[in-house]
Amino acid sequence: ATILVLHGPNLNMLGLREPGIYGAATLETINQQLTKLCLDAGHHIQTLQSNAEYELIDRIHDARKEGVDFILFNPAAFTHTSVALRDALLSVNIPFIEVHLSNVHKRETFRHHSYFSDIAQGVICGFGPDSYRLAMQAAFTLLNN
Ligand code: DQA
Repeated sequence: ATILVLHGPNLNMLGLREPGIYGAATLETINQQLTKLCLDAGHHIQTLQSNAEYELIDRIHDARKEGVDFILFNPAAFTHTSVALRDALLSVNIPFIEVHLSNVHKRETFRHHSYFSDIAQGVICGFGPDSYRLAMQAAFTLLNN
């Protein structure tokens, strides 16, 4: 299967950005680990990080045309703001898991609401870079069923 990993705004700053909250790993390292996991499991992977809402929306639309089977999505700050990204996911009808490095529920109140959780297959948050690995493993299980 083909799995698309989407990273929202400011995640290009991982490693430098508030390491006490987000950890020391860079996005490149995280993507490399996910790529290895996918290839070892016999799946294809594509990754995109963007700071622009419209680029993420366009990527989601293209995913449908390309036949992407599953999406792992860390919408970052757009989690708490973006009806447009929610609507994009609903429009393509591709199953996805919402991922966060931090446990958003023990942070500021404005991070407690997500525009994605109620339409996601599941949500994984709070395990740092390991959140992505756990989400990827859950995706494999869902894809094999
Ligand atoms: C985040 C949590 C969001 O609240 C925040 O805006 C981010 C990253 C996370 O992975 O923990 O940019 O999605």
